[in-house]
Amino acid sequence: DGMTAPTARKVLLAAPRGYCAGVDRAVIAVEKALEQYGAPVYVRHEIVHNKYVVKTLEKKGAIFVDETAEVPEGNIVIFSAHGVAPVVHEEAERGKLATIDATCPLVTKVHKEAVRFAKEDYDILLIGHEGHEEVIGTSGEAPDHITLVDGPGDVAGVEVRDPDKVVWLSQTTLSVDETMETVGALQQKFPNLISPPSDDICYATQNRQTAVKQMGADADLVIVVGSKNSSNSVRLVEVALGAGAKDAHLVDYAEEIDEAWLEGVSTVGVTSGASVPEILVEGVLEWLAQRGYGDVETITSAQESITFSLPKELRRDLRAEA
Ligand code: F3S
Repeated sequence: DGMTAPTARKVLLAAPRGYCAGVDRAVIAVEKALEQYGAPVYVRHEIVHNKYVVKTLEKKGAIFVDETAEVPEGNIVIFSAHGVAPVVHEEAERGKLATIDATCPLVTKVHKEAVRFAKEDYDILLIGHEGHEEVIGTSGEAPDHITLVDGPGDVAGVEVRDPDKVVWLSQTTLSVDETMETVGALQQKFPNLISPPSDDICYATQNRQTAVKQMGADADLVIVVGSKNSSNSVRLVEVALGAGAKDAHLVDYAEEIDEAWLEGVSTVGVTSGASVPEILVEGVLEWLAQRGYGDVETITSAQESITFSLPKELRRDLRAEA
């Protein structure tokens, strides 16, 4: 049709991408539990926010439930990587359920910060997305002390008891830049605002955003592999666009890519959220290669070596077996 193909078609593959240590641990915990106790094993909420992972574990015998009350008495329930409020542990106890807590240790760290500041009677401003499971879990640690701040737009409406006794904490999977903007606005309003003792936005979220930023500036199109309910994946699309990518989309699978996105595109950036298995990225790379984008260059912005040991309840039973 007279259209000339762009001269050099290539793919920039961001590193790090995909699985973080918390997701890896949570997924392995479900797999090991299935091996150890046999199917079915109940999991409260999606173990991690990824369609493929959930479907794969369902095939192996995991049953995902919305509420602990749905789990029949005497069974095992696994809590997802996003963490749960203390009331959920109490519900499980009432329902005579054995629990395996796959909450990411970096989420637990934020829970502990919330408990500590609540004990000292601080007002806690929790920066995060309303309705996200992690935020519900963290808020549940100190419901009387925590106020949710969902972005800079919420700051004007924030009220506290004592403006000199306020601390901010955050969800682990936010946009670093937007969070800093929210913190800046909060500091204007509360000059004595205290910051968390260490970064609440986790290393994996930060590294994936840094990587996509570096790559995004040179990409005509960025494809982020991840599910729509995955906070950190959705942020990667925003960060890519913010970094100068002309276009960016979130897809669960290669099949969701629209051929039309490739029109006039010479450089495609590819990355994936922290809950995304590499096999899905490989599918996207194959799809692109079939359309002339077979030249892949990895753009590495950080090395990751962090790993977490399995949930303690599971380690205990695996040890007893050995
Ligand atoms: Fe944990 Fe961060 Fe992953 S909080 S589950 S390491 S995205």
